[in-house]
Amino acid sequence: MAFDIKMIKGVYSRMIERVDAAKTIVGKPLTLAEKILYNHLWDGTTNKVFVRGKDYVDFAPDRIACQDATAQMALLQFMQAGKNKVAVPTTVHCDHLIQAKIGADADLQNALNTSSEVFNFLASVSNKYGIGFWKPGAGIIHQVVLENYAFPGGMMIGTDSHTVNAGGLGMVAIGVGGADAVDVMAGMAWELKFPKLIGVKLTGKLSGWATPKDVILKVAGILTVKGGTGAIVEYFGEGAKNLSATGKGTICNMGAEIGATTSTFGYDAAMERYLRATDRADVADAANNVVAYLTGDDEAYANPEQYFDQVIEIDLNTLKPHINGPFSPDLASFAGTDLKGKAEANGWPLKVEWGLIGSCTNSSYEDLSRAASVAKQALDKGIEVKSELGINPGSEQVRYTAERDGLLGIFEALGAKIFTNACGPCIGQWARYSDPKNAPKNSIIHSFNRNFAKRADGNPNTHAFVTSPELVAAIAISGRLDFDPTKDTLINKNGEEVLLDEPTGFELPPKGFDVDDPGFVPAMADGSGIEVVVSPDSERLQLLMPFTPIGSEIKEAKLLIKAFGKCTTDHISMAGPWLRFRGHLDNISNNCLIGAVNAFNKRTDAVKNQLTGVYGPVPATARAYKAAGVKSVVVGDHNYGEGSSREHAAMEPRHLGVVAVIVKSFARIHETNLKKQGMLGLTFANENDYDLIQEDDAFNFLDLNEFAPGKQLKLELIHAGGSKDIIMLNHTYNKGQINWYKEGSALNLIKKENAS
Ligand code: F3S
Repeated sequence: MAFDIKMIKGVYSRMIERVDAAKTIVGKPLTLAEKILYNHLWDGTTNKVFVRGKDYVDFAPDRIACQDATAQMALLQFMQAGKNKVAVPTTVHCDHLIQAKIGADADLQNALNTSSEVFNFLASVSNKYGIGFWKPGAGIIHQVVLENYAFPGGMMIGTDSHTVNAGGLGMVAIGVGGADAVDVMAGMAWELKFPKLIGVKLTGKLSGWATPKDVILKVAGILTVKGGTGAIVEYFGEGAKNLSATGKGTICNMGAEIGATTSTFGYDAAMERYLRATDRADVADAANNVVAYLTGDDEAYANPEQYFDQVIEIDLNTLKPHINGPFSPDLASFAGTDLKGKAEANGWPLKVEWGLIGSCTNSSYEDLSRAASVAKQALDKGIEVKSELGINPGSEQVRYTAERDGLLGIFEALGAKIFTNACGPCIGQWARYSDPKNAPKNSIIHSFNRNFAKRADGNPNTHAFVTSPELVAAIAISGRLDFDPTKDTLINKNGEEVLLDEPTGFELPPKGFDVDDPGFVPAMADGSGIEVVVSPDSERLQLLMPFTPIGSEIKEAKLLIKAFGKCTTDHISMAGPWLRFRGHLDNISNNCLIGAVNAFNKRTDAVKNQLTGVYGPVPATARAYKAAGVKSVVVGDHNYGEGSSREHAAMEPRHLGVVAVIVKSFARIHETNLKKQGMLGLTFANENDYDLIQEDDAFNFLDLNEFAPGKQLKLELIHAGGSKDIIMLNHTYNKGQINWYKEGSALNLIKKENAS
């Protein structure tokens, strides 16, 4: 599907020289993650040993993948860059906007009816700028990437947190915000803090009911949802070689659930088999020429404590089936009595209403074949299935092959609903209830990655448990959360006690993969004649206008809100129903800062309009200032903008006329996003000055015309009644970033440079 073998060979041919040079500089053997990172330095080579967890480094990723929800704003921004084509191979995948309700065909048609405007926009922008487009129903982004684009030793970024799934084929693949993806599409470097390294040594071999999912569910139990933060998790050891490529993908996928930057595995025979089975023999041949560079050095794996910041060892021989949850993917239990005890103590419903198989985590052919081997026993042994079953195949290639091989027929014979090859229930696109907020307490079990409250069906009372597809099938058959298939029996229709056999399956389809229409639309070689049309009446899409530079005169700016305490990107730009407006900056700006707590009345979305004295919602107040030609300022506490890398959290205040965000400290990605949008992201030189800010304050920047790297800015606060304070502000703008400010945004600068 148009994977770029020339690009891949280029990555491999430079790898030997770059990795050898890095080894000399670092002065010791390297892990795989380090090899990939050093081979993707923006500057090519370095004389510096990067300090893990500290140094910010510019990288040059090989690929970009975007899903339909995040691609909208990313592509709208890219259109501002004045480029004819994306600078690196990029694909767009339509998988998030498809609801699961009736079944694949009807649900897909419904999505086409309701979101065709968005799909058509993404298709035409893709066609125009050389981006590969995967149609609705083609599959889930990460499964499609694994099948078509991932390659050992590569580096990719994607506008989705589970981009990390591609580590299953030995990539360093990282989820980013749209603004980062736009930079790389436009030919700029991508910056990342050089990650720490966690090594997971796998010994032994899985057997019985234990699966790759249990590896990551166990790791999540050890490291918790924050334990991987800022680190790449590298799996190695004999046990790793015993896992299929898609199984490795499952493990890497859920690295996102421990907060890891990404996870990866060294190239091995399982990856080679997968590459060949997915029609990429030339990638396998190329990889075979540089095998030693596509895995960590022997010494690093022999003495991992000396090379990794943290080491975990897992014996696959003794690994037991896990079920994690509810409400958090790191709440690990063993299947059976362990979970039963916890469920009874905590009041988790033991009756299971639904079993769901699929998501980017577990929707490979191997997953479906092993789950089907369990499901088939219900038919063969005459057992009535107690829970409802839903299946989301990962791609059309998997679906077509699984249908051809009779796997889907097994599930259907049990009454399962086969949903579209899309995210569906995994992202809350599951029309399970008409009124989810008031739906009853219940338990479901799924093979997905996330199980936070409301994630699947919008019902805060749904207790969602995460496990392997095999165990989902077994538990759905039994209808009991505490069912232990290794020893619990079931009563069949003849009243006989039966035990389920261990799952069996195929790593790869014995008759090979097959597909009729994979759903891929290649871009035209020359898309310059394509006009991207967005209706001015559209609710969901709006072409962006370049931001006007704020300039060096900021006088009499009004305080919009002084945020109290935690103010994450969710407080600044809420998700939920607002996701619908992700491609429409003006409409989504109506959620701007509505979750932030006003320091003066401790209420959300109630701030004083200094022009009228009336309290009102933050967005309406900002709009009133903007309409009156008055600039506004946001003040915040520590770690302002933590959470996601969502660029909307910077674009919305910019759109509404906010010129500066002044805080005690920033979450770094949000700070960078503010800079990219051409506004001021500043910190109090003396954090106690936060207390000086009063509700009726106006702000005069006294020396913005001298804005320069490393030089503090002077701010005059004019309080009600006329008293004044002068405070100093720090910033981290370098010369290039000051140019972003001067031009109105990073994209304006790119466009200007492009035109000259
Ligand atoms: Fe989709 Fe769920 Fe993965 S939303 S991309 S299937 S995490």
